[in-house]
Amino acid sequence: MDQMINVALPKGRLGEKVYAMFEKAGFECPSIKENNRKLIFENPEAGVRYFWVKPSDVAIYVERGAADIGVAGKDILLEYQPEIYEILDLDIGKCRMAVAAKKDFCDDVRKTLKVATKFSRITKNYYASLGRDIDVIHLNGSIEIAPILGLSDVIVDIVETGTTLKENDLEVIETIVPISARLIANKASTKFKADLIARITQSLAQQTEAARQ
Ligand code: PRP
Repeated sequence: MDQMINVALPKGRLGEKVYAMFEKAGFECPSIKENNRKLIFENPEAGVRYFWVKPSDVAIYVERGAADIGVAGKDILLEYQPEIYEILDLDIGKCRMAVAAKKDFCDDVRKTLKVATKFSRITKNYYASLGRDIDVIHLNGSIEIAPILGLSDVIVDIVETGTTLKENDLEVIETIVPISARLIANKASTKFKADLIARITQSLAQQTEAARQ
């Protein structure tokens, strides 16, 4: 095998699903299932090298060419707008970006709305499109606490099952955008490893299509 493909996988349950899809596409790497704390795995026979990276970092590896391809959530792509090609919607890791608030929340449009979020750009763009003045409070996690403690009026966050909101007496007010996992590629790799990337994309697209039926 002359060319190796470098794949950044998001660490966690989604990444395991994604690996299973790559395996099915013929890019198996049995050592990855040994479940140790190693982060890089390769199978020279199959011409593939995998890295487990933090889900929000996948696009950075791909943008800078440390990985040729990877899988990232649409939330991360919208928020950081990395210079990559988004080549396929894998239709997994589905959730939505939503505005949520305490159940008794009543919006006063005359006041600047305080919004806590990890997704500042998505938040700013969304409220700009509504012409609404906001004060963005950027947090790094446990966003749900902000309205409870009066730090913010609402939050903008990922909602999957809705359990986290429910457990914290919050509810969705608006859905901003549906989210799912996307196959992304480095721009130069798309030229120099075009055939390999096309092969992978085709198989993943077939698997995605079959799963939809
Ligand atoms: C996300 C999000 C919510 C939760 C929603 O957090 O921020 O807290 O998932 O999922 P649910 O609707 O199924 O309850 P994540 O676990 O990705 O990590 P974070 O706490 O670092 O944001």
